[in-house]
Amino acid sequence: MEKKKAFHGSDLELIEKEFGVKKENIINFAANVNPMGISPLLKEELTKHINVIETYPDRNYTDLRASIGKYCACNPEYITVGNGSTELISLMAQFIHPEKALIIGPTYSEYGHEIGLSGGSITYFELKESEDFRLNIEALFTELQKTHYDMLVICNPNNPTSGIISQDILSLIMQLCKDLGTFIMIDETYMEFSRNEACASAAPLTERFDNFIVLRGVSKFFASPGLRLGYAITQNKELLHKIRTEQNPWSVNSIAALAGTVMYNDSEYIRKTKEFMHEEQTRLYDVFNASGKYKPYPADANFILLKILDEKLDAASLFELCIRNNFMIRNCDSFPFLSDRFIRFCFMNREDNDKLTELLLNA
Ligand SMILES: Cc1ncc(COP(=O)(O)O)c(C=O)c1O
Repeated sequence: MEKKKAFHGSDLELIEKEFGVKKENIINFAANVNPMGISPLLKEELTKHINVIETYPDRNYTDLRASIGKYCACNPEYITVGNGSTELISLMAQFIHPEKALIIGPTYSEYGHEIGLSGGSITYFELKESEDFRLNIEALFTELQKTHYDMLVICNPNNPTSGIISQDILSLIMQLCKDLGTFIMIDETYMEFSRNEACASAAPLTERFDNFIVLRGVSKFFASPGLRLGYAITQNKELLHKIRTEQNPWSVNSIAALAGTVMYNDSEYIRKTKEFMHEEQTRLYDVFNASGKYKPYPADANFILLKILDEKLDAASLFELCIRNNFMIRNCDSFPFLSDRFIRFCFMNREDNDKLTELLLNA
C-alpha cells in the first residue's frame, strides 16, 4: 500500500530546513517522549559514576537484568537486553525468520520493515475505523486459522491508535497460537503509561506460555531515547539461547546498563509520570470529544489519535499550522488504513498541551 512520506518525531533537522523553524524552538508532540525529562536522581547517579565507561559492561548484564526482573515482577532468567527495542525487533525478525507474518495494524512501521528485510512476507490484520480501531478477536481468530502465520505482531498499547488489548484476550490469542505454531511478538513500549497496565501487560503470562516475547524500552517512559536501552521477556529457552549466543556482545553500553539499575528503582519518577499521564489521557479525550471538530479515540498510551471531522481541515494543513507555531504533531496519513483525516499527538507538559489544544480547536 503506497503512502506519502510523513515526518517522524526525530526528523527535526528535516523540519527545520523545510519550514524554516528553529529546531530548538520546536515542542515535539510527535516523538511520544515523557515531557518530564530524565530524573534528578538519574542525572546525579550518572554524573557520579561516569567512569563506568572505562570498562566493558558485564557481558551477562546480571545487575541490570535483576533490576528489570524486579520492576516487571519477572524471572531475570527470562530477560535479555538490547540496544533499544529497535535492536530487539530486528533480532526477532532475524531469529524467528517468519516466512509469513501477520501484523495487527495500523501500527508502528518498523515491524514490517524488519520482517521484510529478513525476507518474510507481511499481511496486515486491520483494526477497523468502523470498530473504533478495537481488536475484533473473532475476526483475528478466523484469519489465524485460515492461513498459517509463523509470527503475529501486536503493539500494546498500539501506536498510533493508543488502544489496548487485555491480558484475558492476549492469553486466548496465545493459546490459539500455541496450537497453530505461531510465535507472537508483543511490543509494550507504551505499556507503563496505561492505567490498565496490571490487566494488560503480557509480562505475567511468561510463566504460562513460551510462544511469545514481550519487548520494552526506556526511550519513551523514562524520557531517554538517546540512551538506547531496551529489553525482552520470554520463557522460550531456544530463543533465549539464540539471543545470548548470536546477539553482538555489549550491545548495551555501560552508561545505559548503569542507568537501567537506577531508573527502574526511581519510584517517585514512575509515580509522578503515571499520575500526570492518566490525568491528561482523560482530560484531553474529554476536551476533543466535546469539540465536535475532532473525534478522539480512548488513550492508553501517552498520545492520542484524533479523527478530523471538520471537512475544511486535513492532516497536512494541521501539521503545517502547528509547525509554524513551533508545535510538531504527527500527520497519520502514512500509516496503513489511516488517511489525511487523522493526526496524533503526545502529551507534553500541561501548559503546552493547552496551547496545542487551543490551536487545534480554533483551526
Ligand atoms: C511502538 C514502538 N516501538 C518501538 C519504538 C522504538 O523504541 P526504542 O527507542 O526503544 O528503540 C518506537 C519508537 O517510536 C515505537 O513507537
